[in-house]
Amino acid sequence: MYMFSKSLEERCNRILRDMEGSLTARDRVGIQDFVLLDAYTSESAVLDNLRKRFNENLIYTYIGTLLVSVNPYKELGIYTKKQMDIYMGVNFFELPPHIYALADNVYRTMLTETNNHFILISGESGAGKTEASKKILQFYAVSCPSTKLLDNVRDRLLLSNPVLEAFGNAKTLKNDNSSRFGKYMDIQFDHMGGAVGGHILSYLLEKSRVVHQNHGERSFHIFYQLVEGGEEDLLRWLGLERNCQRYSYLVQGECAKVSSVNDKSDWKTVRKALSVIEFSESNIESLFAIIASVLHLGNVTFVADSQGYATLNNKNYRSTLPFQTLWKIEARSEEVLSPFTVDQAVYAKDALAKAIYGRTFTWLVNELNESLANKDSSRKTVIGLLDIYGFEVFSVNSFEQFCINYCNEKLQQLFIQLTLKSEQEEYEMEGIEWESVPYFNNKIICDLVEEKFKGIISVLDEECLRPGEATDMTFLEKLEEKMGGHAHFVTHKLADQKTRKTLERGDFRLLHYAGEVTYSVVGFLDKNNDLLYRNIKEVMRQSKNAIVKHCFPSTEPDSKKRPETVATQFKSSLVGLTEILMSKEPWYVRCMKPNEGKQPGLFDDVLVRHQVKYLGLMEHLRVRRAGFAYRRRYEIFLQRYKPLCPDTWPNWKGTAAEGVECLVKHLGYKPDEYKMGRTKIFIRHPRTLFATEDAFEVCKHELATRIQAKYKGYRVKGDYMRQRQAATKIETCWRGMKARREREKRAWAVKVIKRFIKGFMTRNQPACVDNTDYLAFVRQNYLTRLKENLPKTVVDKNTWLTPPPIMQEVSRSRELTLLEYFLTDHLIYLYCVCLPHVQLQIKGLTSSIFKGTKENYPHSVGIPFVDTRISKPHTFPQYSVPVVKYDRNGFRPRFRQLIYTGSAAYLVEEAKIKQRVEFNNLKGVSVSTLSDNFLILHVQCEDIKQKGDLVLQCDYLFEALTKLCLVANKHNFIKVVQGSVKFDIQPGREGFVDFKSGQETMIYRAKNGHLMVVSMKLKTVWPFNSQNEQIHFLNYY
Ligand SMILES: Nc1ncnc2c1ncn2[C@@H]1O[C@H](COP(=O)(O)OP(=O)(O)OP(=O)(O)O)[C@@H](O)[C@H]1O
Ligand SMILES: [Mg+2]
Repeated sequence: MYMFSKSLEERCNRILRDMEGSLTARDRVGIQDFVLLDAYTSESAVLDNLRKRFNENLIYTYIGTLLVSVNPYKELGIYTKKQMDIYMGVNFFELPPHIYALADNVYRTMLTETNNHFILISGESGAGKTEASKKILQFYAVSCPSTKLLDNVRDRLLLSNPVLEAFGNAKTLKNDNSSRFGKYMDIQFDHMGGAVGGHILSYLLEKSRVVHQNHGERSFHIFYQLVEGGEEDLLRWLGLERNCQRYSYLVQGECAKVSSVNDKSDWKTVRKALSVIEFSESNIESLFAIIASVLHLGNVTFVADSQGYATLNNKNYRSTLPFQTLWKIEARSEEVLSPFTVDQAVYAKDALAKAIYGRTFTWLVNELNESLANKDSSRKTVIGLLDIYGFEVFSVNSFEQFCINYCNEKLQQLFIQLTLKSEQEEYEMEGIEWESVPYFNNKIICDLVEEKFKGIISVLDEECLRPGEATDMTFLEKLEEKMGGHAHFVTHKLADQKTRKTLERGDFRLLHYAGEVTYSVVGFLDKNNDLLYRNIKEVMRQSKNAIVKHCFPSTEPDSKKRPETVATQFKSSLVGLTEILMSKEPWYVRCMKPNEGKQPGLFDDVLVRHQVKYLGLMEHLRVRRAGFAYRRRYEIFLQRYKPLCPDTWPNWKGTAAEGVECLVKHLGYKPDEYKMGRTKIFIRHPRTLFATEDAFEVCKHELATRIQAKYKGYRVKGDYMRQRQAATKIETCWRGMKARREREKRAWAVKVIKRFIKGFMTRNQPACVDNTDYLAFVRQNYLTRLKENLPKTVVDKNTWLTPPPIMQEVSRSRELTLLEYFLTDHLIYLYCVCLPHVQLQIKGLTSSIFKGTKENYPHSVGIPFVDTRISKPHTFPQYSVPVVKYDRNGFRPRFRQLIYTGSAAYLVEEAKIKQRVEFNNLKGVSVSTLSDNFLILHVQCEDIKQKGDLVLQCDYLFEALTKLCLVANKHNFIKVVQGSVKFDIQPGREGFVDFKSGQETMIYRAKNGHLMVVSMKLKTVWPFNSQNEQIHFLNYY
């Protein structure tokens, strides 16, 4: 069921929203429930509240569970699907008053209590009863559970409305869509709350409207809809013209067109509805044929023949099937020699039109009931909707108004009985003392109308039935006779001087509960008799129109026994209706008109005050307030106000009643201010409730802060707990994973070590499973070490790592030899690639001189030679290099530049030539075998004054000497000498330079007067010490 599908949260939100809404609205736009009005006995206060709300477009106000509705005469946008959703499944008082709230409450009560209910919608004509009933039906259509089958029923229920309105509603002076029949509709629900069927009861259609309308009024909508909206073919077939003015039954009110009614579109709606309700095409055709025939009938006129008898004036109609009948009647009457006068013929014609239309309407209602019937025999609960014509007062009021107003009297009586009864029952049920309330009981008026033998209806019937000349006037006389002196009845004759002036001779006046109404007796007898000539009925029975045939059955009682008069029938049907209603739980919607002009936004105080009075709102309010202004179930009361008492907040452990008791004590309610019933608390004065409400309003903010703080704390704590849990979980997983890895690693290590040990133990055995890995490891290990300790130079033959024994097997050692070969090849390749061709040649020269002779030669291999080390190569000197010259005598070191030109070598000190050695005079050059950088230039000396040999030290020894060879073009004059080199200090005087290896480089004058040059013993190295040097070398060139 939909009410249970609402989530708790949603409900809470609604309740909270309502608490805000309803209570603040209390001050802003009047009071939503009159019961809470302090001045509840004051009509003006009630009126003020209504006006205040009406001006704010708040058309609904409660009196307890009764809904007062003021017709806004404009669209308010309060009947949307969204609004319906808001009101679905919400407690009655939780949201501002609305017809949906009432509809929803009825529905939910029906479902929970599994009993039948009805909603009595009352109010005067144009007050909005039909609209209210439609809104309720629409609400159920949306809110009830939906299945394909249920949707079908729903559509039929909804669409029965436009059909019934087309045939039963008309424009009156009071209302452009006035219901001219009473309608009671049962909606049947299954135990799941699905609308599974419906049944309609109709009451007393105002048939006279078919033949006569007052000025400014129309006939039933369907006539205009057919003429205005009917398809061309259909009109042709029916012999109709698209012009209402052509039909005398439609022109009497002189307002065939009404701005608020769109006959054309309404026609489409009706056509569609008839199809959905599954009227057969033939039935639909017959139905429209009847409507057309009534229009044609209206156009039939008679003229008196020579004898004064009526003859048909319209020749056209003689040949038209439906109107042959009328002619036959005439013919027949002539046959039996009782011809009609023209008046009688007109009367018979109108009677026929009314009868056909009235019976067709009954047939239509029956057909709708067929379509809405639920064939399933399981138990249903029903909600009845009573939308009956409202109380009417026109300038001339006839039999119809008499019936309508009588009906309203009956309903008012029912209302009084039921409201008093239910209120009394509630007090009794709750064990609260009942205080009776004085109210106007309209039983006296009902009796005046309906009492057996004495009532107006009895008198009327009597007059209708009695033999002799009974007329409307004799009926009035009888009334005067019988009712004379009744407080609610007055005629011209019975009235006092003053009242008499307001009455015609043929009038009688009733003082209804809703006001005085003056009825004109003209037509009362005829309308009450509603006689149709027997022979006309017979003709109708022969009709080919299926509906007409059905409506005039051959089994109809004969005229020998007079049919019940209309008033008596109506009275009986009202008794039946009362019985139906009495067996159900009542709910009320009291509709009011704000003004007579159908104007939006206009609130006519006098008119509304009058309605407040006659609708019995004041009495109802007094009854509701007689004991206690406010009552609520303990649970609801406690739920709302429990924050006001520390004992009940946040949860009360005991029963709701005890909780409320505790709460009200805490709030300081005085004993006479409230009463505790069995299930409800009753609060006597609204001010007590408002004080509680105001306290709640203050408390709410504190509460909100506290709840907010608690909630925030709860959320943060929740977050923290979640994070902590997550951290623990991650930690656990991480640790587990680490432990598993560790275990795996250890297991693997154990395995490896075992294998390693086994391999080690079996290393000398031939390769087998046990030692494969070990041997592979040893090989790998060796290769890795080898990779890091590869010989750096081609000349380095000694640094090749000794392979382990397993690598010394034949195959392995061949592999290693191959490896060594590749490496040497590679080293050579690298060296050659890095050195340009000229360099290579010079280097080749150096190599031819020093390779294998001088210890530090290999170091020089990798260092490229430059053109000069002092100035630019293209200037005068061919080569220049810084040197240290050792004095020939004392061996003192001096920084000099050694410069080669094309023919000589110069020793220069800051642009001062110290010594010039012609290449021709250069006998040779000596260098040691060791790693020092000394060179001794041996010079040819003939003259004693000439300087002797030069003892020099040059960092770029190999370069300088190779260049010298090239410049001087002497390739063989360099001697690499072991031990000492003798040189000429001057001709005839010799010096020595001794060379030896030592721990560190030293140059000093030895005791023997020789220059001692100690150089460090060097390892033979590959010219490129590192990859970087190679790159540097390559870049250099
Ligand atoms: N709730 C509403 N919102 C907007 N307009 C409304 C509302 N209720 C009634 N009306 C307007 O008032 C007109 C008359 O309403 P409605 O036909 O329901 O009156 P009624 O009480 O049924 O009268 P009657 O007794 O003549 O049948 C509607 O046609 C519509 O224009
Ligand atoms: Mg109506």
